[in-house]
Amino acid sequence: MAGSGFGTLFRVTTFGESHGAAVGAVIDGCPAGLTLSEADIQRYLDRRRPGQTASASQRREADQCRILSGVWEGRTLGTPIAALVENRDANAADYEALKHVYRPGHADYTYEQKYGIRDYRGGGRSSGRETVGRVIGGAVAAKVLSALGVTVHAWVSQIGALPQGEGDGGISWETEAYLHGLRQEGDSVGGVISCRISGVPAGIGEPVFDKLDAELSKAMMSIGAVKAIAFGAGFSAAEMRGSEYNKNAAHAGGVVGGISDGTALCFQVAVKPTPSIRRRQQALDRELRPVELAIGGRHDVVIAPRAAVVVESMACITLLDLMMRHGVSRMDQLKQQIRY
Ligand SMILES: Cc1cc2nc3c(=O)[nH]c(=O)nc-3n(C[C@H](O)[C@H](O)[C@H](O)COP(=O)(O)O)c2cc1C
Repeated sequence: MAGSGFGTLFRVTTFGESHGAAVGAVIDGCPAGLTLSEADIQRYLDRRRPGQTASASQRREADQCRILSGVWEGRTLGTPIAALVENRDANAADYEALKHVYRPGHADYTYEQKYGIRDYRGGGRSSGRETVGRVIGGAVAAKVLSALGVTVHAWVSQIGALPQGEGDGGISWETEAYLHGLRQEGDSVGGVISCRISGVPAGIGEPVFDKLDAELSKAMMSIGAVKAIAFGAGFSAAEMRGSEYNKNAAHAGGVVGGISDGTALCFQVAVKPTPSIRRRQQALDRELRPVELAIGGRHDVVIAPRAAVVVESMACITLLDLMMRHGVSRMDQLKQQIRY
């Protein structure tokens, strides 16, 4: 089955290409009676928008969200919620030069191999712009989760080798100067996003294949440019003794046996450097001949700051779906739900 949807009971399907008419999401399984407005979604989208810091892509779009269905008089109907953002500031001419060239590090070659056809304008569906639909879904999931006492927070904890403090948009001046230098050189850098989820009761996660950490990993690895995820102690667990590891519950990151243990869930994701760089590099054309390439258009020097809200959104979608699934995993809960 084609892979544009995520989730079982709470399911988000994203649609749209970077330079098509619009990008957005269809959300199926949102409970009826939730207070929901375009402003609720807009607050999340504004955190994803480009052109907010010196280091961000200079593509300027208002990214105004429109809800098309599933909400009436400010409340959800229990029917599919469709919402979209029109693509207004997409300059396809920027990409004319890439018609016959595969960008190193981007999905141009692999998309063409898979589909035999490729929307080369901004990477089409492999563009970071696809994440608009994820953030729409995440904003709705976050609203439901907040009514259940769950809060999800993701922040940039590292840019290149520079550690960053917790907080939204909390990039230090030193880092801004470093990124400015990279922009001058036409280069890019990677980063780390940390995520903490509080208020999750013990018991969430569906062993054995849909474990909480397995589902969160799939959600995170499905975000473009994410290359790794680690829960709690992560890779450093490999160097520990059992006596050391067991001493601190935080080493597990809030999940044991694929099920939440009732403490905060903590994980980190590694984001690679932005593949599209202005600096001259070697590439291959469609005949696989080597060519020199300097990419124009507007690209972020570092993706992580804009991807933090995407991580948060995918975490919200995953958590809500698994919490809903947990509601039918025991006889007592099932009886409670069916006998109304
Ligand atoms: C929020 C966000 C913004 C992104 N912005 C850009 C960008 O401006 N330029 C670029 O080349 N890649 C950008 N990317 C990364 C590409 O989408 C990604 O590297 C590409 O699809 C290849 O997939 P992979 O890196 O997961 O293998 C962005 C990704 C995200 C999540």
